[in-house]
Parts: sequence; C-alpha cells; structure tokens
Amino acid sequence: MNDFRLALPEDVAELEALSALPVPGGWIDLSYARSFGHCREQVLRGRLKTGEMAAIALRSLPLLWRRGQARRIGYLGGLRVHPRLQGRNLLAEGFALLRRVHEADPVEEYLATIVEGNHLAERLLVERARPGWPKFFPSGVLCTLALETKPCAFSAGPPPSWSHTQDYFPCEAPLEFGERRWWLEHQGVAGCLRDLSQTRHTRVAAYHGPLRWLRTSYNLWQRLWRRPQLPSPGARLKGGYVGFFRSDGLRPQAFGGWLRSMLGLAHSLGLDWLYLGLAEGDAYLPVARRFRHRLYRSRIFRVRYQGQPEPLPEGPPYLELAWL
Ligand SMILES: CC(C)(COP(=O)(O)OP(=O)(O)OC[C@H]1O[C@@H](n2cnc3c(N)ncnc32)[C@H](O)[C@@H]1OP(=O)(O)O)[C@@H](O)C(=O)NCCC(=O)NCCS
Repeated sequence: MNDFRLALPEDVAELEALSALPVPGGWIDLSYARSFGHCREQVLRGRLKTGEMAAIALRSLPLLWRRGQARRIGYLGGLRVHPRLQGRNLLAEGFALLRRVHEADPVEEYLATIVEGNHLAERLLVERARPGWPKFFPSGVLCTLALETKPCAFSAGPPPSWSHTQDYFPCEAPLEFGERRWWLEHQGVAGCLRDLSQTRHTRVAAYHGPLRWLRTSYNLWQRLWRRPQLPSPGARLKGGYVGFFRSDGLRPQAFGGWLRSMLGLAHSLGLDWLYLGLAEGDAYLPVARRFRHRLYRSRIFRVRYQGQPEPLPEGPPYLELAWL
C-alpha cells in the first residue's frame, strides 16, 4: 500500500527536494524551491510502498471576503508527482486523501490555477475528473507579469486601513515565516511588496538551445542598460511579489505611477523582478504591460465538490499571487 497522508515534520526534507525538482521549459528549466518547515498550508504528501516520496499538493484555507462577509475559501496548489513516478495513477490516491482532509474540515469552494499550455493537467483535472473528485469550473485567466525592476523614487508607508471588502480579497494579511513587507499607496491605489526569499527560491536549473551560448552577450547588453541579467545555472532569480493589491479599477494613471514606485522600491532592495498578477480584462493590465515584462497566463478555476451547487458566473476572483 502506498502511504498518502498530511505531512509531518520528518517529511519536510524529502518534500523540499521533490518540490525543487526542475520544471522543464522551452529554453530555460526552472526550479521552484520552497521550505515547508513553517508553512501555513496543509501539505498533502504521498509515499510509495517502496519508500520513495512521490507526490505533494498544498491546501490552504484563508479568510476571504465573499459578498461582504468573511468566509474561509480554499486554495489548492503545488500539485506535483515525481517525474520518474508519473503515470501510475497516484493522482487518484492524492484525491482520495484530499477528500478525507476536506470532509474533516469542509469549505464551500476552492480556487486553483493551471498554467496555460499544461494540457496534461487540464485533461486530468478538468476534462476527465473522476467521480468523487472535485469539479473544476473555469473562472477567467490570470496574467502574471514578471516586471523588470528599475530605479525610481518611492516612499513606503504604514499598512493602509483594512476596509476593502472586494469579493475574494483577504480579510487579513498575516506575515509568512521570514517575510519582509513594504506598503505603498498612491492616489487610491495600494498594495505591498512581499519579499519571501527566506522560504522560496526560484532558480535556473539549466539553459537549452541557443540560450546556452547567447546568454553571455545577452547579459552584456542587459548590463549596459542596467537591466536584469540571466543568472548562471543553479543561481537564484531575485524577485518579490505584489500583494494585497487594491484599487477601484478606475485610476489607470495613478496605477501607472504606483507601479513605477513599486519597481523602484523593489530595485532598491536588490530585486531584479517584481511579480504582479492581474485578471485578463483588468483595466490596469494594459498599463502594466507598458513596462518591460514577461507574461505568463494561467487559467483560474473555482473548484467544488459534488453536493455543492455549481457556481454562478462571475468575474475572475481576486487571487493573492504569493499563495498560489
Ligand atoms: C499532472 C500530474 C500531477 C499527473 O500526475 P500522474 O501521477 O502522472 O497522474 P496519474 O498517473 O494519476 O494519471 C492519470 C492518467 O493520466 C495518464 N498520464 C499520466 N502521465 C501522463 C503523461 N505524461 N502522458 C500521457 N498520459 C499520462 C495516466 O496514464 C492516467 O490515465 P488513465 O486515467 O487513462 O489511466 C503530473 O503529471 C505532474 O506532476 N506534472 C507536473 C506538475 C503539474 O503539471 N502539476 C499540475 C499543476 S495544476
């Protein structure tokens, strides 16, 4: 029998090694290392009967605003089966564990994302979900921008008063272990920079194709313009997350000024990248895209177990990027 259960402290080292395994990309393989020692999420893990750690997934239950009321809504993420052990039907065992965990402490709904182009995950989780698995309902597209930081004057301040009750916006903003945070507010646009580098490292695992030999000249060019360079294999991408972002969506000009200051703040902290998540169709997205960036698209899902009514169509939910 394989052993699927919630993780215990003795599992942490193996789970960290599993989650840091490189994710193959076109020209760049990335590794998303995380430490699980102090994480707030529930960590579901699966070990084969041979003893190998094979699968991991994360479940968190933040308190979010829903129609003006504080509700616990789930986030599902971090699903990974060891590349060598995929195709052995472990997903079914993982979902059986998720069901047990869910039934012990149920919530009406979860949010989840799948990176566009991950056809296998979409096929398995969305199109061919088995009876007893939760159903994934499409709920828009999240555009994640990795923005190049650059020098600019800024003035960080205290956290703004917490009266924002937009649907799916967090009711509270607890610091994660080792997190550093700076708040910026500008003409009705507010949010913070979250530096989670104590517990999360994105590293370049390998370069492929022409990038292997083009990197040196590309870096020379980037250095000339004081822009972020491509780190050597094994080195970290230095980035921070925009968090708890709020505005009424009607101030594109103020948003542009706010974002420029955020990029200056991130640059002053030695970060090369600022990660910002906006829904496709957000009026601020075209403004953000005027800054130098790479764009990653993910499909957003509202996830419900059978027995819950199907969600009514709504706009895409607010998502706190660092929680995904
Ligand atoms: C997506 C993922 C979690 C699936 O895990 P898995 O253990 O391979 O899935 P299972 O073995 O339970 O697969 C179930 C089905 O998919 C098929 N399958 C699994 N891997 C496959 C592959 N690489 N190519 C084609 N089919 C595959 C299985 O044969 C099985 O088919 P069946 O239902 O007809 O028997 C795993 O591929 C993975 O970790 N991918 C990388 C990270 C990722 O994409 N996470 C999802 C983020 S939302």
